[in-house]
Amino acid sequence: MTATAAAPVYEADIYEDQALLEPYEHYRSLRELGPAVWLEAHGAWAVPRYAEAKAVLFDSDTFRSANGIALNEPANTAILGCTLASDGDLHTRLRKVVAHRLTPRALRPMNEIVTRKAEALVAELVAGGSFDAVHDLARALPLSVVPDFIGWPEQGREHLLEWAGANFDSFGPMNDRARRAMPKCGEMAAFGAEIVRTGNVAPGSLGASVLEARDQGAVTTEQCMMLMLDYLAPSLDTTISAVGSAIWLFGTRPDQWDAVRADPGLIPNAVNEIVRFEAPIRAFGRVAGTDTQIGGVPIAAGSRVLVLYASANRDERKFERPDEFDVTRPDAAEQLGFGYGEHGCAGQGLARMETQALLAALARSVRRFHLGEPRRALNNLIRALGSLPVTVEREG
Ligand code: HEM
Repeated sequence: MTATAAAPVYEADIYEDQALLEPYEHYRSLRELGPAVWLEAHGAWAVPRYAEAKAVLFDSDTFRSANGIALNEPANTAILGCTLASDGDLHTRLRKVVAHRLTPRALRPMNEIVTRKAEALVAELVAGGSFDAVHDLARALPLSVVPDFIGWPEQGREHLLEWAGANFDSFGPMNDRARRAMPKCGEMAAFGAEIVRTGNVAPGSLGASVLEARDQGAVTTEQCMMLMLDYLAPSLDTTISAVGSAIWLFGTRPDQWDAVRADPGLIPNAVNEIVRFEAPIRAFGRVAGTDTQIGGVPIAAGSRVLVLYASANRDERKFERPDEFDVTRPDAAEQLGFGYGEHGCAGQGLARMETQALLAALARSVRRFHLGEPRRALNNLIRALGSLPVTVEREG
């Protein structure tokens, strides 16, 4: 597959280290070039602008997820048939197996648990005065909530972060990061298969619902394995990224923290603004099922299409002052960081709950975040800090 004669072309590799560290100028250049830009280094069409990104995500009949999510064939083959990488009726059926457990109503009992854990964690860290916002805060809450919610056995949890990170690396182009990740993804899949074989999930958990669906004939054993990973793999790094970015953003823009402290009712909007400004997932792919067009650029059937959520969220055609972090932004909820349409994030209720609970507890007890030197974690898909030392100035 190549670009059509008149289509804009971008030569740079947007997955090399420096581009992952500083992606926003690349995204700006891509947006200026057009609604669909041929990425020479990756053999795929980038969709960098908001309107077309949303339209592609919405049109899941044309832009397919099966064989389309990752930028390389081995990863697409490995995940074929999971919720994320399925289409049409199969996708609807798979999503239905556990989606009912993630609705706001079903998550209500989780709110108390998440709030209690967030408050205890923040109280302990704030009392200490200094901590690492990634290791001690952003990772600690999801790790203490999500594996229990999914029902993942205690044994094996020590690998979860490494496996989940590898899973996201594997979805990029077949660069060194993706190559290194493949064996880890295999380990995670094997562990998931073992859990399904032995039925070793916590009673009443999301994982238990998946096994029940298999026992009732709603899904096959193989689909059951995929579903187990579907909900575990994307549930940690994403939220960790959002919380780590939040502390960095509020530390570097204290006026925004003052606004949140003055009106904690802004916290849900602040979470949208964090996910808009520093989209935890940079991009996911699709494959064009038929000859089509994106913003007038002809796209041949079989072409790979890369929807750049992180670029769409900074599109000056959609958002005013897109490079400013503003928790009062009236249209922050329109960000595409959780995706959109049929494949829109199934776990966003839980992610929002965790992030909001931490920010609410922090808003009550922290006046200022004084930041040390941040270190970025490099991953093909996830934009996140790997470490962020912080000293807090306490309230009162
Ligand atoms: C800040 C946190 C999160 C972000 C930014 C995020 C982002 C996303 C995005 C962009 C997609 C769309 C994929 C696509 O377009 O193909 C997605 C899908 C998905 N997410 Fe999340 N996610 C987060 C947290 C979670 C959590 C906590 C869970 C699980 C409990 C989860 C489970 C899923 C699943 C299962 C899908 C696939 C949905 C489908 O294909 O129908 N996510 N997420």
